[in-house]
Amino acid sequence: MEVFNSFHEFPQRFLDKSYSLGMVPTMGALHDGHLSLVEKAISENDKVLITIFINPTQFDDDKDLMNYPRELQKDLEKISHFGENIWAYTPNASEIYGEHLESKHYDLNSLETVMEGKSRAGHFQGVATVVEYFLKTFSPTRAYFGEKDYQQLQIITHLNELLGLSTEIVGCPIVRTSDGLAMSSRNALLTVEERKIAPQIYQGLQLAKKLAKDYIYKSILDEVHAFFHKHSELKLEYFTAADPSTLVEFEPDEKITRGRGFIAVRLGKIRLIDNINMS
Ligand code: PAJ
Repeated sequence: MEVFNSFHEFPQRFLDKSYSLGMVPTMGALHDGHLSLVEKAISENDKVLITIFINPTQFDDDKDLMNYPRELQKDLEKISHFGENIWAYTPNASEIYGEHLESKHYDLNSLETVMEGKSRAGHFQGVATVVEYFLKTFSPTRAYFGEKDYQQLQIITHLNELLGLSTEIVGCPIVRTSDGLAMSSRNALLTVEERKIAPQIYQGLQLAKKLAKDYIYKSILDEVHAFFHKHSELKLEYFTAADPSTLVEFEPDEKITRGRGFIAVRLGKIRLIDNINMS
């Protein structure tokens, strides 16, 4: 593995590309979810570039940005096991943004206005800005993103088309711990008690999926709200069933088996998201 703190440190042999390059953008605090993306990228490309950068413009809350786990040495240790075809890029903000720490503005086809976009103003414009930088700087053959952030994956797929880039955007399945909780860097911020409760988020999603076979969306919404009402430590921010490509929400009287269920929950000070394929 080689580590580059700046784009200017990359040797020319890296930039004269005669090989396929897989890119895995991350914000660090790497766990097995991230590493599953790295493994897939390694299996499909000659070289893999992992970016580790906590992107300030995608945080709408300064506290969240401040508290975001920072574990660079541990992260580098974890990816060093993958061998010599791995590069890590750990830039600072000024390399990406210059003097103005601001997002660009993209037409994201309204994909950014629902769910996470509603609760986190400007979040996806910030994500799109940094992902455009990575895609244009390195022109990877393929770039890997997790379905854990399914809305983000759809937005990046759209962005890639919008910018006319040749990278293939590859979606990867959600990695969960044995109790069903979707892995997330934020899980490390939960207290021991909260960590025990957190798997109920996935149980709520599984309940919705089970009900989707027989009931219309409205009944499922009622049941999911009742489920989280019972588990009162989990504050349900939203449960939404939507079309997997357009992210347009179903009508109350529709069956939702061809859709995806999305959830955001607050547990203590931590906000967690998850989603499930309803079919
Ligand atoms: P981050 O939250 O670090 O996630 C990096 C990548 O890992 C994302 O594509 C995310 O969906 C994926 N991932 C996280 N947890 C996962 C899990 N349990 N299973 C499968 N994949 C998982 O997402 C970001 O960073 C940023 O927004 C970024 C795209 C890097 C732009 O700053």
